[in-house]
Amino acid sequence: MLRLLFLGDIIGEPGRKAVIEMVPRLRQRWGIDFVVANGENAAAGRGITGRITIDLLRAGVAVITSGDHIWDQKEVNSYIQTEPRLLRPINYPLGTPGKGSIVLETAKGKVGVINVQGRTFMQPSLENPFHHIEEEVRRMRAETHVIFVDVHAETTSEKIALGRFLDGKVSAVAGTHTHVQTADDQIFPGGTAFICDAGMCGPDESVLGREILPIIQRFVTSMPASFPVAKGGVTIHGILVDIETATGHAKAIRRVAEPHAPDPVALEERSSALGEEGPPAFHPRKAGVEVIPDG
Ligand SMILES: [Fe+2]
Ligand SMILES: [Fe+2]
Repeated sequence: MLRLLFLGDIIGEPGRKAVIEMVPRLRQRWGIDFVVANGENAAAGRGITGRITIDLLRAGVAVITSGDHIWDQKEVNSYIQTEPRLLRPINYPLGTPGKGSIVLETAKGKVGVINVQGRTFMQPSLENPFHHIEEEVRRMRAETHVIFVDVHAETTSEKIALGRFLDGKVSAVAGTHTHVQTADDQIFPGGTAFICDAGMCGPDESVLGREILPIIQRFVTSMPASFPVAKGGVTIHGILVDIETATGHAKAIRRVAEPHAPDPVALEERSSALGEEGPPAFHPRKAGVEVIPDG
């Protein structure tokens, strides 16, 4: 059995800090074999840099997926060609820098990761994700049946359709981009684990990771504004999936919503309270606004 942790969109410095501090501890505590995280908002909410990629890889993230924000930082155009563990959506036109998939060796065999972007209400509109992924999954299954897919898309319909399309062909399909964890985690009849959105790793008191008041102002006034990453307490959201390595079938999926506990002692106490069962499906975060963002 291979236990995979997937973490949704990492938002700016608060999200990075939480992921970098928590991944090593969670790996040890929950016996995680392989970590994938979406890094498309890791650089102040917009894209990712080489430095940040290295920091996340060093913390134990094996593969970093992305989405529509992948090109926000100029340096990534060339950097992505030097780092195959940083993925961009696979359904870009031929000749686009970087790759949309990777297969890595692990102690428990090969693990494949594919990043694909939806087309409904998404900019830029890429090539047909269903065509691209079907081809890539066929290729990858010649090497391994343990395959994780990050589908970066806006609509639940497109994500569910893609998950159902891949049922029995990949181990797990998890959605990203909407930054809000959905409660539809399940295993489809063919053995593919699925969730519409894994949720984000970012500030709790926010609108999708950004300061609250500028976003409200934008909706109230329709005027352009800047949207800084929010401050305060962070929760890392994602899923844990147990995968049978011989077949690639998912045997269990569990939602992860772990408040960032910078104090190792506090985390240790919380974790040991979980016992052998691993993380509970949901942690209510503590009440109260820690930081009220100024406009
Ligand atoms: Fe995002
Ligand atoms: Fe996105």
